[in-house]
Amino acid sequence: MSVTVRVPAKVNVQLAVGAARPDGFHPLANVFLAVGLYDRVTVTPAEELRVTCSGPGSDQVPLDATNLAARAALALAARYGRTGRDAAVHLHIDKDIPVAGGMAGGSADGAGALLACDALWGTGASREELLEICAELGSDVPFSLVGGAALGVGRGELLTPLEVGGDFHWVFAMASRGLSTPAVFREFDRLTGHAVVPEPVASEPLLAALAKGDVDALAGAVSNDLQPAALSLFPELARTLEAGRAAGAVAALVSGSGPTTAYLARDAASAARIADALTASGTCRTVRLATAPAPGATVL
Ligand code: C5P
Repeated sequence: MSVTVRVPAKVNVQLAVGAARPDGFHPLANVFLAVGLYDRVTVTPAEELRVTCSGPGSDQVPLDATNLAARAALALAARYGRTGRDAAVHLHIDKDIPVAGGMAGGSADGAGALLACDALWGTGASREELLEICAELGSDVPFSLVGGAALGVGRGELLTPLEVGGDFHWVFAMASRGLSTPAVFREFDRLTGHAVVPEPVASEPLLAALAKGDVDALAGAVSNDLQPAALSLFPELARTLEAGRAAGAVAALVSGSGPTTAYLARDAASAARIADALTASGTCRTVRLATAPAPGATVL
């Protein structure tokens, strides 16, 4: 018997970052939007905990106990007193979300494994308990469980669901190499130096644009405070962003900590043209089309 869970990627339509807290994390106003690119996590009872991975970039995914899917299974087992064979599972991750791309691929696998193990073991955990475990696993993991759109505050883990009044068409350009999230936050600290960094707050025009499903208003309101840091570490991304804008993207931005770049299109036809132009530009590794919002982690 096995359970498979499908989990979406995310793009941050707003990522407002404050000054580092004493624990090293940064306070955020993080507007997450789940997009229709999915990893699938399958859990099967096994002799011992084992993680395998397939799909693009899977050779870069760690298969040891540092893998968020493995950590999720261990955390759920610990909470419900499952030990030995009762906690032993084979987790298979079928990746479609870019690895180390700033689209919460690792977080998706953590949330997916958690939901899959929960279903397999029939723990009866409440949604709140699952969200608590997600928050322990990482700042973006709760959103991967919830999906849709949400405002994340604190270090990004305290979620308020947001209304979205329509579908948005996105194009994503995957870069030739990854960027480490901690490294991007360190570069943010270096670039902001001793300047006074304002408290992060959600943008009202942005929330209104999402609620209305208004693509032009959303395009005018997106922002990412990590973008200068990502561009500083990966300057070639500026050319990719320019190629997307030239092809008609109404907004072009780095997704989260990058290096995936995200392009908002007015409609499906425009998205297809942007995707073709990005591919032809030779400035990225692969290009994907996806619509948002997408549902959160779902047992298939
Ligand atoms: O929470 P998560 O493990 O996904 O975060 C990865 C890293 O990103 C953290 O170790 C930290 O360096 C950085 N981070 C941060 N502030 C946040 C979220 C993440 O500095 N709010």
